[in-house]
Amino acid sequence: MADGVQPPPGEADAPGQEQQEALREAQRALEEAQARLVQSEKMASLGMLVAGIAHEINTPIGAVASMHDTLVRAVARMREVLDHELPGGVDGEPRLTKLLGIIEDANRVIADGTSRVTTIVRRLRSFARLDEAELEGADLNEGLEDTLTLIHHELKHGITVARDFAPLPKVDCFRGRLNQVFLNLLMNARQAITGTGTIELRTWSDDAYVYVSVTDSGVGIAPEHLDRIFEPGFTTKGVGVGTGLGLSICRQIVEEHCGEIWAESVLGQGSTFTLKIPRDVKARHEARRLASIGQNPATGSGSGTAGST
Ligand SMILES: Nc1ncnc2c1ncn2[C@@H]1O[C@H](COP(=O)(O)OP(=O)(O)O)[C@@H](O)[C@H]1O
Ligand SMILES: [Mg+2]
Repeated sequence: MADGVQPPPGEADAPGQEQQEALREAQRALEEAQARLVQSEKMASLGMLVAGIAHEINTPIGAVASMHDTLVRAVARMREVLDHELPGGVDGEPRLTKLLGIIEDANRVIADGTSRVTTIVRRLRSFARLDEAELEGADLNEGLEDTLTLIHHELKHGITVARDFAPLPKVDCFRGRLNQVFLNLLMNARQAITGTGTIELRTWSDDAYVYVSVTDSGVGIAPEHLDRIFEPGFTTKGVGVGTGLGLSICRQIVEEHCGEIWAESVLGQGSTFTLKIPRDVKARHEARRLASIGQNPATGSGSGTAGST
């Protein structure tokens, strides 16, 4: 903008640049705050919607499952009675044998279907947890499974999902928020793959941290873009496809958990996004809170645990 303007000579030049820098920084912060607001508003509505629908489905599917259970037992009992009453048993009556066979096969299919719906509803409710004002201990493997259930229809054609989950210690987290991170990463991985490909989810932990990585065999990220993908509004997707907010939201949520997120990629081969979440988020928050009101945490040594990037 100020390109054509002659810079004032000497020292006056420095504050001008500094101010511009500050202005740019303020604008960036504003854009980021706006992006977060829009996104959290959207996620809250979506969460409420999903929780509502899951609740609505839960009641009728519960009734179906329970009645079906009764039906299965009644058919078994009927077979017993007939076996007892008929001279040659059920097996002596080919038509009856066939009919009972059909009923029992149908019952198996219904049982399988209801149990799948019940699982989906349970995972949806768990995904859409709205009670996230408090940090609570959670197994991140479960969050990943809940998220995979939610986007199953996006992944079922041509995408092979591989899981390499280690048993994880529970970490204090805002479950719904972390699920949003998983969702954004999985959707990006999905969108990076044209035709067929694989998405590999890996989890592991050490003494201090829990890690989650999402690797896709998609288009990859150009080296000159790699530094920019976490900026709010940065997108290489067409209008109406990408908003460029997903990763900036991810970074913000991970930072709320005192963690880190980074990406590695080879253009044309795929990308890996890794999260690193400390196991003691609660303690870190508490230390932060005490520091903000000018008290030293527990030991009073003042060293504490430094917040990560
Ligand atoms: N798994 C991935 N593979 C390739 N590129 C990716 C991947 N994830 C993110 N990107 C790049 O980062 C950009 C920003 O991602 P994101 O913040 O989620 O916004 P959006 O998905 O709306 O474009 C994408 O437009 C894309 O260029
Ligand atoms: Mg995205």
